[in-house]
Amino acid sequence: MATNGTNHRFLIWGGKGWVAGHLEVLLRSQGKEVFTTTVRMEDREAVKAELDKIKPTHVLNCAGCTGRPNVDWCEDHKEETMRSNVVGTLNLTDCCYLSGIHCTVFATGCIYHYNDSHPIGGPGFKETDPANFTGSFYSETKGHVEEIMKYYTNCLILRLRMPVSDDLHPRNFVTKISKYERVVDIPNSNTILTDLLPASVLMAEHGDTGVYNFTNPGAISHNEVLSLFKEIVRPDFTWKNFTVEEQSKVIKAGRSNCLLDTTKLESKLKEYGYTVPEIHVAYRQCFERMKAAGVK
Ligand SMILES: NC(=O)c1ccc[n+]([C@@H]2O[C@H](COP(=O)([O-])OP(=O)(O)OC[C@H]3O[C@@H](n4cnc5c(N)ncnc54)[C@H](OP(=O)(O)O)[C@@H]3O)[C@@H](O)[C@H]2O)c1
Repeated sequence: MATNGTNHRFLIWGGKGWVAGHLEVLLRSQGKEVFTTTVRMEDREAVKAELDKIKPTHVLNCAGCTGRPNVDWCEDHKEETMRSNVVGTLNLTDCCYLSGIHCTVFATGCIYHYNDSHPIGGPGFKETDPANFTGSFYSETKGHVEEIMKYYTNCLILRLRMPVSDDLHPRNFVTKISKYERVVDIPNSNTILTDLLPASVLMAEHGDTGVYNFTNPGAISHNEVLSLFKEIVRPDFTWKNFTVEEQSKVIKAGRSNCLLDTTKLESKLKEYGYTVPEIHVAYRQCFERMKAAGVK
């Protein structure tokens, strides 16, 4: 779907969300024309009316049911979760399709977990690997909808994992694990938003479609993240570990742990002269930005 041109109008869906806020700030800093909306994605008439009113060239879909305080909520609110993450997400993509609008979906890579062919330290999951993690209802909805939504020729699906911002917002993965009483220690793919959000704009503007693992290259363990956090941001920080078995006693839904293969993303971004730093390098840069901004 070719969308090259200068008259791009971006409409961010889920406008009051965390990722949406970062994206809006980025687009405004780039001088782009940007609008936001909180219209419910599953309300077809309202979605069509909003698209007709704003007439975007690009929708950036940052809406999704993520649960509060966390994805455990989705276990007990299955209909609400499906209405947003399945019916709503598909509906918005479909309405965009009918109106010739490019739609970027901020999806999740939490649809995999390490297995025999993808063990810790082994090869990462590729975009073509079928989802193998259904330990949480949240992940199950996301895995199912992606499997069918990927056929829309106007749709770019970006799989984020454990997103990290340069502040200590409650949604930031680092904030979350720094506040837990105990943390597991497993290598994972992470998305440093400062590195990846500009890439999402580049890809949307080039009209890219299909599924992309949308993380920094490589995997980093919880202890490695917290060690860097202690070294750079908070010298007096301490934490305790526990095992996955112990963790399962204090959470309702399972949590995905995996490495995503970023080869496809890296080669696409190379076409645009854009590079995403390896995750350990990226975390160091992120924590240095935090420190420079006075975050403690
Ligand atoms: N943060 C993470 O750890 C993470 C990781 C990987 C992927 N993601 C995905 O990235 C996207 C953005 O995440 P986020 O962290 O920014 O989440 P967030 O802060 O919870 O924001 C999501 C926004 O979507 C809105 N929303 C939910 N259902 C909707 C619907 N049916 N129609 C319209 N708006 C709806 C919410 O509004 P209400 O509160 O009014 O419902 C909320 O403002 C989500 O799809 C999420 O699954 C997030």
